[in-house]
Amino acid sequence: QILILDFGSQYTQLIARRIRELNVYCEIHPYTHAPDLTEDIRGVVLSGSPCSVRDPEAPNPDLSRYLGRVPVLGICYGAQLLAHQAGGEVLPATIREYGRARLSHLDRSNALVRDLSLDSQVWMSHGDTIKVLPAGFEIIASTPEVDVAAYHLEGQPTYGIQFHPEVTHSSEGKTLMRNFVVDICGCDQSWTPEHFVDSMVLALQHTIGPDEKVILGLSGGVDSSVAALLLHRAIGDRLYGIFVDNGLLRKDEYEGVLHAYKGLGLNVQGVNASQEFYSALAGLSDPEQKRKAIGRTFIEVFDREAHKVEGAKWLAQGTIYPDVIESVSVKGPAVTIKSHHNVGGLPDRMNLKIVEPLRALFKDEVRQVGDTLGLPHNILHRHPFPGPGLAIRILGDITPQKVDLLQRADAIFIDSLRQTGLYDQVWQAGVMLLPIQSVGVMGDERTYEQVVALRAVTSVDGMTADWAHLPYDFLADVSNKIINQVRGINRVVYDISSKPPATIEWE
Ligand code: XMP
Repeated sequence: QILILDFGSQYTQLIARRIRELNVYCEIHPYTHAPDLTEDIRGVVLSGSPCSVRDPEAPNPDLSRYLGRVPVLGICYGAQLLAHQAGGEVLPATIREYGRARLSHLDRSNALVRDLSLDSQVWMSHGDTIKVLPAGFEIIASTPEVDVAAYHLEGQPTYGIQFHPEVTHSSEGKTLMRNFVVDICGCDQSWTPEHFVDSMVLALQHTIGPDEKVILGLSGGVDSSVAALLLHRAIGDRLYGIFVDNGLLRKDEYEGVLHAYKGLGLNVQGVNASQEFYSALAGLSDPEQKRKAIGRTFIEVFDREAHKVEGAKWLAQGTIYPDVIESVSVKGPAVTIKSHHNVGGLPDRMNLKIVEPLRALFKDEVRQVGDTLGLPHNILHRHPFPGPGLAIRILGDITPQKVDLLQRADAIFIDSLRQTGLYDQVWQAGVMLLPIQSVGVMGDERTYEQVVALRAVTSVDGMTADWAHLPYDFLADVSNKIINQVRGINRVVYDISSKPPATIEWE
């Protein structure tokens, strides 16, 4: 595997994804917890950082345990740090270097840049630049503005690059990463979905005792569904899935998903607990209070159902890699903007051992594994859906009548997206029921009814998002259908805010 030491760059996860795309396993560790060198670490990548090596507070770990022993590639800050530690000079760049640049000099005899082309586009994003390289370091690539765009320490497998090969704007970034990971580090490219499935099934069989039972909460989403299929393959019907209807799912979702699970041969118990959730939510309007009430009720319902499985030893969770990576905060603590931890208290209360078969995977890898395991397309490519469900799309307090109104409007929007082939082009979509009424006219009558907002966004990971530029004709058609078919709604608006500064959900 490749070890990535994170110095807090916004691109660190991208480095990992590029390496995984080469079918090579890698892990991100914060520089503050740099692991010791073990036999399976074939190479080390040092990430970028928002810091400057000239700042005395900047990350400056002792890298001697790796240097000279395994190949090391410093990217941006990582490259500056290696140069700085070896006695080179890193200074503020005289011209700001952000955005695209082209390689104007290349030493193609060097393994790192062997098959790159002159003029290749690279992506720069740095305030500092390496002005003087330490003795023994040779330049292997330059751009018109940056002499030291890439360097190599003679006689040692130590390299640095000033640009960012991990972003797609660096047109040959993937080739460079391949050169490092495969040719220089000698990793074999065996990290494939099939390989993952085979080895995880064996690992699960090894970890979970021969008679032990595992409980898993299913949500209809990709992660829990893939976790279920993996566990089912490993331990068969000793996996007990529990799928709770909280009364806040999409229209017909509960029945549809339960049916799909049964079709896959999974041992799943459906639990209709809508009334319990509605009672817990009665009178609550504050978004965080609603989230808490839903989380609490879920734990109660789930715990009760889980106790029906006699002698269960394990609780499986669909945790994925981005939930696990400890983020490095080099410039003050990260701020929690919304609480997304729906069922944080679950494991403590249940006194079960935890098993998380997807802990090592990025979302796209989870999908590939799901595909390998035969998960149907409609679950595999389902948009993300928040744990608290429609409760955070009904602004204000929740009643079963409001849920019904929203479910019907939402179904029209989502069905239309599917029918027109737009569904797969947006990252997430849904309808918000607003807590206001407005005047309309239908036939000769004045109406005074609810307003809904359509929300559709494009995004990569939900952290940032843009509103989807859906065609006007499509929006007109959806608006018409909702107003004509859902009695109680007389106005439809489209949300054209990006995140930031808005968020995807309205609560
Ligand atoms: P925001 O609204 O913060 O949403 O831009 C980003 C992503 O997170 C989802 N979301 C939630 N998911 N529990 C969840 O499981 C929550 O409380 C929650 N709030 C927002 C949202 O649907 C989007 O995909």
